[in-house]
Amino acid sequence: MEVKKAIRKRKSIRGFLSKPVSKKIINSILSQAGHAPSWGNTQTWEVLVVSGDQVKKLGEAFCQKAREGLIETPEFEMPKGFPEPFLSRYRQVGKDLFSILNIQRDDSVKRAEHSLNNFRGFGAPVFIYLLLDEGLSPYALVDAGLFIQTFCLSAVDQGLGTCVLAALARYPEVIRAHLPVPKGKKILVGIALGYPDRKAPANRYRSKRDSLANWVTWI
Ligand SMILES: Cc1cc2nc3c(=O)[nH]c(=O)nc-3n(C[C@H](O)[C@H](O)[C@H](O)COP(=O)(O)O)c2cc1C
Repeated sequence: MEVKKAIRKRKSIRGFLSKPVSKKIINSILSQAGHAPSWGNTQTWEVLVVSGDQVKKLGEAFCQKAREGLIETPEFEMPKGFPEPFLSRYRQVGKDLFSILNIQRDDSVKRAEHSLNNFRGFGAPVFIYLLLDEGLSPYALVDAGLFIQTFCLSAVDQGLGTCVLAALARYPEVIRAHLPVPKGKKILVGIALGYPDRKAPANRYRSKRDSLANWVTWI
């Protein structure tokens, strides 16, 4: 697929078919993603591929913790808020998505259910976890970002969908109880991977982008 087409086709998928993704395809996507640039070619990314029953078990364990109201302890600090203009853009996504899903502002039941769906990776059959060695500097996050986008574009090229999910990294103790995360590695983020469910209402949503004039300065 043309790069231009893949870039425009990629979007966050929030509804997956249960159809499994073959190991061969996952390996091919990972191999492409591994061509991302990194500081000094250090290739700082390390990945756990979770599939089969383990995905469901993990998702339900997250949901259980969320229902219990367990404090989230992500291993990389997550944003506590945003200054403008970022805050408005952030709010817009929630507003537009909830509108497509027909979730009213005061409908706490549906909002909670949507929130739990995040923890289930929106039904994806595969979770990809990105780990970073704790000895790395915060600059390794640049490498990780490049890896993640290359991964997502390569998935599109294979007819697959992705959603980068901070939600999957909010309860690291649950992840460590289920998966062999090596000592000295920090859990950065999860990516839901699978075949998009074309009928899922959330997949009708496409987020907007601000015009260049608002974020480019020519000198
Ligand atoms: C680091 C990161 C964490 C994210 N976490 C979540 C999440 O927990 N839940 C969710 O629905 N989307 C999550 N997203 C997806 C963003 O909401 C999405 O990328 C953004 O709204 C732009 O839309 P697009 O990906 O469809 O272009 C995350 C994206 C990134 C890069």
